[in-house]
Amino acid sequence: MKYNSITAIVAGLVVVSTSAFAGEDSVLTIEGQEFITQAAAPAHMENVDTIYSGWVFRTDETQALEMDDFDNPSFVFVEQAEELFETVDGSAGKACVSCHESPEAFAGLRAKMPRVNDAGELETLPELINGCRTERMGAEAWKWSGGQMSGMLALVGLQSRGDIVDVAIDGAAAPFFEKGKELYYTRVGQLDMSCANCHEDNYGNMIRADHLSQGQINGFPTYRLKNTKLNTIHGRFKGCMKNIRATPFKEGGEEFKALELYVASRANGLMVETPSVRN
Ligand code: HEC
Ligand code: HEC
Repeated sequence: MKYNSITAIVAGLVVVSTSAFAGEDSVLTIEGQEFITQAAAPAHMENVDTIYSGWVFRTDETQALEMDDFDNPSFVFVEQAEELFETVDGSAGKACVSCHESPEAFAGLRAKMPRVNDAGELETLPELINGCRTERMGAEAWKWSGGQMSGMLALVGLQSRGDIVDVAIDGAAAPFFEKGKELYYTRVGQLDMSCANCHEDNYGNMIRADHLSQGQINGFPTYRLKNTKLNTIHGRFKGCMKNIRATPFKEGGEEFKALELYVASRANGLMVETPSVRN
């Protein structure tokens, strides 16, 4: 099923089949730790047997950048976030560090996000951070995909690097999972394509000059060589929707939050790679 739908030629989008993908056998090691970049797909995935980190699909040069924290450009932003963590902001006269001893207090958190809270609301990492800013610090919310937020997301996410992604999809999370799944398979935009058309039916193939991955989010926020900054999950979703000439949903809105839960759960079994490097 995967390799025969490939010669889709939709409004100039040519997808070319390749039998295997270059990086399939390469091994990701960061700071001496070997990472799981391919794993058996979680049971809820019906059309895919093996899940792969987006790292696997990148060129040797791009892969190398993620393997060394000194070469990984994300760490410039991580360092800025370390300073922000200690900077007083807002009417309460507090910094993050006033209440959270160090970023290490967030170990393990990223692997389980997004999650549903006791009130039954789906919460994402940017919302937790902004919740502390607005409700506990008397400070202004950071922009969803702005530099301060994406840097802080990288710093918080880094504390879970190497942890196995384990996003809950049952119980109170089930309705959000279903909504996200529906969005993932719904064709939208002028090109009338769904996320699955590219990231499930065609991963491993070339689309224009780009090697299609499974569209996993276990490495976000991710530093992109293309725009030389950290990119958030919803920022990336937005970009993909624009590419198929669809009107993107709002960053932080209910649609992208549900889609995030669903896409995150498609990486259950891979490891958190935050902050990753992509092209
Ligand atoms: C006035 C105290 C206070 C300040 C300042 C504060 N927080 Fe929090 N934060 C809390 C409390 C209380 C919680 C909920 C209990 C917990 O998880 O620690 C929380 C929860 C969180 C969580 C979720 C943790 C989890 O495991 O569920 C994150 C992430 C977070 N804060 C990040 C930040 C960041 C980043 C800043 C600075 C921009 C910040 N906080 C500033 C008090 C604070
Ligand atoms: C026309 C094909 C196409 C469609 C449809 C598409 N994408 Fe993408 N997407 C790409 C390409 C090309 C890239 C960059 C190469 C790669 O990582 O696959 C990408 C990258 C991504 C990434 C980054 C992966 C990483 O490892 O950093 C995510 C996440 C993603 N897409 C999610 C989505 C979601 C969610 C949808 C549906 C709303 C979607 N995409 C629809 C083509 C597409």
